[in-house]
Amino acid sequence: MSKQMQNIPIAKPWLGEPEAEAARRAIMSGWVTQGPEVAAFEQEFAAYVGAKYACAVSNCTTALHLALLAVGVQPEDEVITVSHSYIATANSIRYCGAIPVFVDIEPQTYNINPILIEDMISDRTRAILIVHQMGMPCDLKAILAIAKRCCKQIAHRHNLPVIED
Ligand SMILES: Cc1ncc(COP(=O)(O)O)c(C=O)c1O
Repeated sequence: MSKQMQNIPIAKPWLGEPEAEAARRAIMSGWVTQGPEVAAFEQEFAAYVGAKYACAVSNCTTALHLALLAVGVQPEDEVITVSHSYIATANSIRYCGAIPVFVDIEPQTYNINPILIEDMISDRTRAILIVHQMGMPCDLKAILAIAKRCCKQIAHRHNLPVIED
């Protein structure tokens, strides 16, 4: 058995010719930061997810940091999240000066256990930052229902935003 066959990939990137060609197109155009490819990507992505706008950034850590700031996370606020993730998830909360409050995951999906969220919500909770781990989607329906219910309970909050990592 070859050495390669002994490895069982837990999260194999799904990349092929179209992605390689897109990277080649950007490199050969001379636009390697902003430019027409980024503008087209933002428009196509917004249309795909049904949003008015999309904004491409340099990496996921920056995206999470900006999303938390955009929903108003401030120093000493609490953000519900998971520890079972890459460190960038919790770091993005700390970059805002806020406190990550960890909720346990479901062993079947490796994702946040919706049943455990509500008990961790306090009057300092400002957002819920969930992670769709290794291609397995979180139970968004249950999570959004909790976010909606809890924002009604916390009198001074207008909503409890859910950010997806
Ligand atoms: C779940 C998760 N969130 C955030 C990040 C950070 O991504 P980036 O390295 O693009 O900042 C990673 C990176 O592996 C990740 O796995």
